[in-house]
Amino acid sequence: MRERSVLINPSILASDFSDILGALDLISSLELDYVHLDVMDGMFVPNITFGPKFIKDIRKHSDLVFDAHLMIENPERYVKIFSDAGCDIITVHKEATRHLNRTLAMIREEGKEVGVAINPSTSVHEIECDLVNVDYVTLMSVNPGFGGQRFIPESLRKIRALDEIRKREGYEFRIMVDGGVNLKNHIAIKEAGADILITGEAFFKASDPAAFVEEMES
Ligand code: DX5
Ligand code: ZN
Repeated sequence: MRERSVLINPSILASDFSDILGALDLISSLELDYVHLDVMDGMFVPNITFGPKFIKDIRKHSDLVFDAHLMIENPERYVKIFSDAGCDIITVHKEATRHLNRTLAMIREEGKEVGVAINPSTSVHEIECDLVNVDYVTLMSVNPGFGGQRFIPESLRKIRALDEIRKREGYEFRIMVDGGVNLKNHIAIKEAGADILITGEAFFKASDPAAFVEEMES
């Protein structure tokens, strides 16, 4: 096992969907653990990507930890469906569900790891009551909907604030950061307290993915 200061979670949104198994193989060949699956409904976010059928089909070909980032309205309607599709982590947006506590409990009852995501304009304090119930918090560092956007610098303050709450309360959830993560900002993001870096374009456009991973993990 190599030393890693942070884990990398590649987002297949930036991959060529006509060669999705190639993308999964690339991730596995680099000995990464996670793959980030951006599910978009055209309502919560302007874009539409893929749904549970796609995830179920690729599940048969991969042992990676499937991290489903549900950017859909009222995700509680779909927790069981994405669970059955083979997701390992189900992440819902605080802004998309009226009863977040109940939705998180539904994910837990399915035996899945529980994630909550918040948009750039949502304060970490708005999910403070829920932190005891989650395994992952995904801090969006772009407005969700599209890959390849620029990292919003104010996100660093939110990562620090969340890390402080975590230390103060003795929580064990991991902090993921999603959007615009690249080799120019990864150190600052890590130093702020992030544990897992979600990366789409920077990963899939890297000319040498192994060197990219090595630099990001160092
Ligand atoms: C944006 C998605 C992100 C995105 C990250 O709505 O949630 O996961 O794919 O991609 P990059 O690294 O290209 O910003
Ligand atoms: Zn995402």
